[in-house]
Amino acid sequence: GITRHYKFDIKMKNVTRLCHTKSIATVNGQFPGPRIVAREGDRVVIKVVNHVQNNISIHWHGIRQLQSGWADGPAYVTQCPIQTGQTYVYNFTITGQRGTLWWHAHISWLRSTIYGPIIILPKPNVPYPFTKPYKEVPMILGEWFNDDTEAIINQAMLTGGGPNVSDAYTINGLPGHLYNCSAKDTFKLKVKPGKTYLLRLINAALNDELFFSIANHTLIVVDADAVYIKPFETDTILIAPGQTSNVLLKTKAFNPKATFLMAAGPYVTGLGTFDNSTTTGILEYEGNPTIKRLQLFRPVLPSLNDTSFATNFTNKFRSLATTQYPANVPQNVDKRFFFTIGLGTNPCPRNHTCQGPNGSMFAASVNNISFALPTTALLQAHFSGQLTGLYSSNGVSTQKKNRVFTTDFPSSPTHKFNYTGTPPNNTQVSNGGAKVVVLPFNASVELIMQDTSILGAESHPLHLHGFNFFVVGQGFGNYDVNKDSANFNLLDPVERNTIGVPVGGWVAIRFFADNPGVWFMHCHLEIHTSWGLKMAWVVLDGKLPNQKLTPPPSDLPKC
Ligand code: C2O
Repeated sequence: GITRHYKFDIKMKNVTRLCHTKSIATVNGQFPGPRIVAREGDRVVIKVVNHVQNNISIHWHGIRQLQSGWADGPAYVTQCPIQTGQTYVYNFTITGQRGTLWWHAHISWLRSTIYGPIIILPKPNVPYPFTKPYKEVPMILGEWFNDDTEAIINQAMLTGGGPNVSDAYTINGLPGHLYNCSAKDTFKLKVKPGKTYLLRLINAALNDELFFSIANHTLIVVDADAVYIKPFETDTILIAPGQTSNVLLKTKAFNPKATFLMAAGPYVTGLGTFDNSTTTGILEYEGNPTIKRLQLFRPVLPSLNDTSFATNFTNKFRSLATTQYPANVPQNVDKRFFFTIGLGTNPCPRNHTCQGPNGSMFAASVNNISFALPTTALLQAHFSGQLTGLYSSNGVSTQKKNRVFTTDFPSSPTHKFNYTGTPPNNTQVSNGGAKVVVLPFNASVELIMQDTSILGAESHPLHLHGFNFFVVGQGFGNYDVNKDSANFNLLDPVERNTIGVPVGGWVAIRFFADNPGVWFMHCHLEIHTSWGLKMAWVVLDGKLPNQKLTPPPSDLPKC
């Protein structure tokens, strides 16, 4: 591979949407941000310079970061943030991945405007395992807020209430013609008849899973999270925040002399914090007569809470599992975990008025632990812990604590109950601080994630940094180890980095802990992350030189 250099200047920029101008944090003044284009095997070097008042860090969502954990980006997990006037160089190699991923700010809610695509082409002379597209089109779905998103999340955390919802969904930063004064801010895709287009779809929305459809056109899904899948046809895509998917769009053989709308709107299962609106774009055939008014076709999206569509759609994803693109599914398990994933509440502090349910504060947790980020980076603490003998050589931690995190994250929930029955009276979440799970190098891990349904059942797109995992099972109700594990797909399960824990159900994933470092895992609904639906895995070094985390780069930001 070759080395590709990028420079990201973080700066403010006035942007107008919905007839409302605001100053937003951007990369290089662009919204959405610039594309990163590389080939599998290339090294990517991005110099990030922070010219704004906020602290910044950038995450390369879905990049494996083998041995390069210092470049992963989540603030207070793998690095301290880049402060005003400071610079940090992210440096990583793309290994064994091709498709579409994306980058976004990973501190507070700044990812609402700081995001862009990562396009990973196959190695030179390696074709796609599907029809060669005539053109490739990155399409990022997002959310636009008229108000400042930092103010929104600060207010929500202070009052314990739900945050304000966005004012529009967007396609490539554009709300589309259904929104107030947005006709000119409508994404337009001009196509030729009889061709195949590759749409590189990304869901960069903060808080909503989205349906996406194009009127009178079938889509063929060929990849998920930069891994090829067995292609399947669909009229509508469901894509969760954090997920990416490449889909083929075959245009009509002859110019249909019509205009087709594309649309994206939310899939919402839980608490009703959503904006029931639709972003639109236009699919237009080249060579249409410009004067004549063309017939307009509109797509039909599933209804807001169509969980049966969601289930059917998710079940269609299968790994290619060929000799060229094998599915390296762990067949045996070294470490088993059962995590409850859900919302709850914490009591309102004394002499305070709170706007959560019954005067409480909203909270969220994994195994009843509402994770709190430390004020320095976990990875640095881990790295120095390795040097000072925090862990024994077989991967067991010899002490419970260093000063930054503890290693006693529970491997199963601290309170058990019937997760799909009547919610218990006690919906409280404990504040667990920074507790992590330590894994020996290359352990094969099975993780069951169960939606708790404590406070309204909700689908949670869980994202794991540093790994792809295999989705070996999924179901509704309470996970039953005897019944459900017998039906796991260990042959061709889909491999991805973000998967929905279904509303009122569970998902089972497996992965090899083959990447030393500290790896964040969280719900990619941003408000849930803010409320504490997050945790971290520590993966210890292996014995061989290429199984060790490298020392930190000299420009690693300080807290
Ligand atoms: Cu796309 Cu931790 O994030």
